[in-house]
Amino acid sequence: MSIQHLNEDKRDALLEAAREVAGRAYAPYSNFFVGAALLTEDGTVYRGCNVENASFGLTNCAERTAIFAAVAGLGADQLSIRAIAVATAHGQPAAPCGACRQVIFEFNPDAQVFFFGDNGMVSTTARELLPYGFRL
Ligand code: THU
Repeated sequence: MSIQHLNEDKRDALLEAAREVAGRAYAPYSNFFVGAALLTEDGTVYRGCNVENASFGLTNCAERTAIFAAVAGLGADQLSIRAIAVATAHGQPAAPCGACRQVIFEFNPDAQVFFFGDNGMVSTTARELLPYGFRL
């Protein structure tokens, strides 16, 4: 499948949607508020934030919250992630964690991924972030 890259305006709008939803994060333990905005191949945007728990290991990252919302909203059969943007409420850099990379990969290895790294905005793909991603 050929990759149709998002134009800069759409990329920036997705990053802004991610930053906005980071304000809804439930992160009383880390105080690290993360948001993710996901654009499906059919043009719908789903958003998610991190949700922590007193039992720390139960925390769900923003990226997976957004992906699970998209599965619930669209049905997994229909879901192909065209792009996903990640941002924090206070501007700290945040790359998707390893677990989230695998979950993005599941719903399109060629998905574009945007986030802020130590040296500014990074535009990459799930496959680049996770070489040898697992598939059944
Ligand atoms: N977190 C995310 O939501 N996404 C990431 O890409 C990295 C980490 C969350 C998990 C936890 O609630 C907080 O950030 C600190 O690790």
